[in-house]
Amino acid sequence: MKLKFEIKKIKDVKTDAVASFTFEDSRDTKLHWLNTLFKGELATLIESADFKGNIGESTMAYINADIKAKRLLIAGLGNSKEITLEKLRLAYSAAAKRFNKLKLNSGGFEVPDLALIKSIVNYSVYDIMQAIAEGVLLSQYQIKKHSEKADFQPLEEIVFFTDSPKFTKEISDIVKDSKIICDAVFMARDLGNEPSNSLYPDKFAELVKKSSTKAGYSVTVYDEKKIKQLGMGGLSGVGQGSANPPRFLILQYFGSSKSEKPVVLVGKGVTFDSGGISLKPGAGMEAMKMDMCGAAAVIGAFEAVSRLKLRVNVIGLVPCTENMPSGNAIKPGDIITSYNGISIEVDNTDAEGRLILADALGYAANYKPKAVIDVATLTGAAVVCFGNTCAGVMGNEEELIKKIFSAGEKTYERVWELPLYDDYEKLMKSDMADIKNIGTARKAGTILGGIFLKKFVDAKYNWAHLDIAGTAFGIGEPTDYMAPGSTGYGVRLFVELLKSFQGH
Ligand code: BES
Ligand code: MN
Ligand code: ZN
Repeated sequence: MKLKFEIKKIKDVKTDAVASFTFEDSRDTKLHWLNTLFKGELATLIESADFKGNIGESTMAYINADIKAKRLLIAGLGNSKEITLEKLRLAYSAAAKRFNKLKLNSGGFEVPDLALIKSIVNYSVYDIMQAIAEGVLLSQYQIKKHSEKADFQPLEEIVFFTDSPKFTKEISDIVKDSKIICDAVFMARDLGNEPSNSLYPDKFAELVKKSSTKAGYSVTVYDEKKIKQLGMGGLSGVGQGSANPPRFLILQYFGSSKSEKPVVLVGKGVTFDSGGISLKPGAGMEAMKMDMCGAAAVIGAFEAVSRLKLRVNVIGLVPCTENMPSGNAIKPGDIITSYNGISIEVDNTDAEGRLILADALGYAANYKPKAVIDVATLTGAAVVCFGNTCAGVMGNEEELIKKIFSAGEKTYERVWELPLYDDYEKLMKSDMADIKNIGTARKAGTILGGIFLKKFVDAKYNWAHLDIAGTAFGIGEPTDYMAPGSTGYGVRLFVELLKSFQGH
């Protein structure tokens, strides 16, 4: 996929089709302007008043007059007073998908009145243009088929055009940057969608290693021996029942001076979660190949941040394992000890994510980080609570949560906070160990996940936990820019969040 920006009149853009965008409230002016330009060929369209200019609405005109692209898609942006970044993503992705239905190779997309939009949405021109570019690009994701024929043909060439020389710098920058970001989202989606027989911990580590050299970050991989030796009882405990041994990945990107404290991102990398001895029911279990979407979000963030060369230091910690039943598997009632010496009674082997995150959160303290954010498909209860609309966020510091919240509003990878009141702690008391890994059944499932993790967090660092069980996959009604399957949720959120850590 090639992405370009051209300062050109609509009639001069050399693509298979061009899309022109109009607000509902300025539709008449825009249509008449186009009609004059194309020598009255839109007269019947205007007369019919069929096209209203709603978000996602579009109508195709075939033009004889002097225009290089013979197909002209007229697409709606809704009411200008109500425009948002998300509506721009939806409008532009809908237009792009229309081009895909016709199996076109190239598409031109008109840049709207950025100054007008800026006066309404309160975001920068760069941010607005980013939403537009993301709408088009993210809609072009193609799930990797393990069979012959693909039924979807992404656009090979995407051209953003405007005849105004205004904001040229912002637009050229974002055309470059959003390609980087969307490629990273695609990589995260690919990792999520890949079946567990071809993506197991060692393979995951190899893939990331290979990709890191090209992107500009480094990766260290610990094998099962080293994991045990370091005392990561959670990760080795969960991994011990599997034929494919666990791995612990450490990613490093230094975009700022070495003395600057890093931000640590921790991602749950369970390449398949069968539940272990506390086996899950069969129906829907195939989705548990995506139980590494937290890890995928961290990898995607590293890919993007290092290619964008953000001025920030970031460490990524990815405990990676399968969760399988076998004669060697961890059993309910077993007691293990985490990296920081805290003992855990494992009453349910299906609450495995928190066991491996416990080790990583303990390990994170070694970096004296300014913030640690973990991201995990941790609880089915998060899906019950939030559906597929937003992720749950919990933590020990309000400023960090606020930062994540704003990044979520901007990217539409939204989060909502749940409380970590001390009162919940008693639900996880163990008679034999420092804590047990499940609480009382059916009570506050997502919060108890957070309560458990908090026990392993060093009070000295700011911490937030994202439960992305609902947003990482299984979206109810996929939008034009959200593919079914793995969504890549978290990559854009983290890039935005890490931008806010730059230069401090
Ligand atoms: N990976 C699952 C959580 C999950 C469920 C993610 C559905 C996405 C969709 C996690 O490891 C798990 O099994 N959690 C248990 C915890 C329980 C045993 C305390 C759950 O949610 O049932
Ligand atoms: Mn589980
Ligand atoms: Zn899991």
